[in-house]
Amino acid sequence: GLVNPRELLQDARRRGYALGAFNIHNVETIQAVVEAAQEVGTPVILQATPNTIKHLGIDFLVTLAQAAARKVSIPVALHLDHASEIDIIKECIGAGFTSVMFDGSLLPGELNLNLTRQVVEIAHSYGVAVEAELGRIGGEEEMRVREESFTDPDEAAHFVAVTKVDFLAIAIGTVHGVYRGEPRLDFARLKAIAQKVDIPLVLHGASGVPEEAIFQCIRLGISKINIATELKLAFTQALREALCSSPQESDPRQYMGLARQKVKELVKSKLQLFKLSTNI
Ligand code: 13P
Ligand code: ZN
Ligand code: NA
Repeated sequence: GLVNPRELLQDARRRGYALGAFNIHNVETIQAVVEAAQEVGTPVILQATPNTIKHLGIDFLVTLAQAAARKVSIPVALHLDHASEIDIIKECIGAGFTSVMFDGSLLPGELNLNLTRQVVEIAHSYGVAVEAELGRIGGEEEMRVREESFTDPDEAAHFVAVTKVDFLAIAIGTVHGVYRGEPRLDFARLKAIAQKVDIPLVLHGASGVPEEAIFQCIRLGISKINIATELKLAFTQALREALCSSPQESDPRQYMGLARQKVKELVKSKLQLFKLSTNI
């Protein structure tokens, strides 16, 4: 069945490696991620945003994730990504998610802290782990990364101590989506945060981050790496190519199968990369 990723991430933090957390959107991408992790031999986190839950329906989503997890021997977690409403968090806890993210990054600091603390109390009473965000990770719509939204190390230490959150998403220069040009990550800031905060740290917006920067992040204390856009692109490109190159094809098993295979290959290469950066 699905597992709470808390201990897996703590172990990753202690031993200096990272777990991949992949955003899934349909049955093919769920299968692709879980099969890839089984073949590489690492635990994996499936994650879904509130919009994905709306698209699939929460029962379908949880049932699919459970079915995928039952077929493999590696641990599989199901995580709610970027939820800013308590209602959807409660719904996911009730439906079988094993961790949830409360994203209060757009709220005033004090409110983010208080709501995160409340979410942690609720989630922990059901054995569900919580990720929170401090600072603000930009989107690609923001043309440049603004340093004033980066995570402050002292504030992070205070936030974690008060909220008792299990993992912390930090802003060090990554953005959601693919980059226009090279991202410049604030490694000194990551190092300072990791010195003051001993829980696993989460890197959002990892699509488009070069390998060397990923290695450096893992070395400095990142234990969960979120990838969404690169998987969406791989799926869509494979599908588009399949449909365009065979306009007569009308068997969804053929073109969906090709798209699934492409996503699986990409996830395998990401997981091998996360493993490579250490000696596990
Ligand atoms: P990317 O779309 O840049 O991979 O970001 C993923 C993410 O942070 C999901 O929470
Ligand atoms: Zn994110
Ligand atoms: Na990105």
